[in-house]
Amino acid sequence: MAKLLMINAHPHTTVPSASLTVAASFKTAYQQTHPNDEITTRDLYQDGVPALNDTTFEAWRKQKYGEELTSVEVELLSRHAAWLAEFLAADKIVFVNPMYNHFLPAELKQYLDLTAVARKTFKYTVNGPVGLLPDKHVLHIQAAGGYYHQPDQHNQVEAGDPYLRGMMQLYGIQDYRTIFIEGLDQFPEQREQAITAAQVAAEKLAGEF
Ligand SMILES: Cc1cc2nc3c(=O)[nH]c(=O)nc-3n(C[C@H](O)[C@H](O)[C@H](O)COP(=O)(O)O)c2cc1C
Repeated sequence: MAKLLMINAHPHTTVPSASLTVAASFKTAYQQTHPNDEITTRDLYQDGVPALNDTTFEAWRKQKYGEELTSVEVELLSRHAAWLAEFLAADKIVFVNPMYNHFLPAELKQYLDLTAVARKTFKYTVNGPVGLLPDKHVLHIQAAGGYYHQPDQHNQVEAGDPYLRGMMQLYGIQDYRTIFIEGLDQFPEQREQAITAAQVAAEKLAGEF
């Protein structure tokens, strides 16, 4: 039995969303083709990514020097540990997000800050960092208003997917796949067609993921 972790980095809960629609198609097809696998959905907006703030750094400092932590610090560090453990336990991870200003939503960047932990997801060596998670599989589903990945229609810089891919490479993950749903605001009349095509691709990929 494999563990699939779906990382939902989208603020919408009721408003229609292309990336969430495609992710739902992927999940349904995955459930049908992998009935014994365990699927967990982590909603970064609803659940609130544990912060990397002054309290976190102070708690880490106290931990390092064996000082007593406050209950707030204990709670924050235990949430950090639980979220990291969930990421480490997953065999397959699906990231779902809208493109915001040529990048990932801030919550997803914050999630990556939470998982980029030396000796857990990568380690430092004299030859540079080495990833510790070579067996995991990753799918990135991203929706955008413009075009970035069609060979003849890319119009602007896209920093989100290359960054996510780079972080997964840091963790040693070799199997990194993508589904881009694009041009949704540039050509609204083609929106449904683009979403349907991505749903078909997602359902096909789910069977072999
Ligand atoms: C704050 C914000 C920033 C956005 N920035 C971009 C952008 O840089 N490039 C782009 O193509 N679309 C951009 N969009 C449009 C969304 O990526 C697009 O509407 C996408 O379909 C949203 O995903 P969803 O359909 O899953 O909600 C932006 C939308 C918002 C709300």
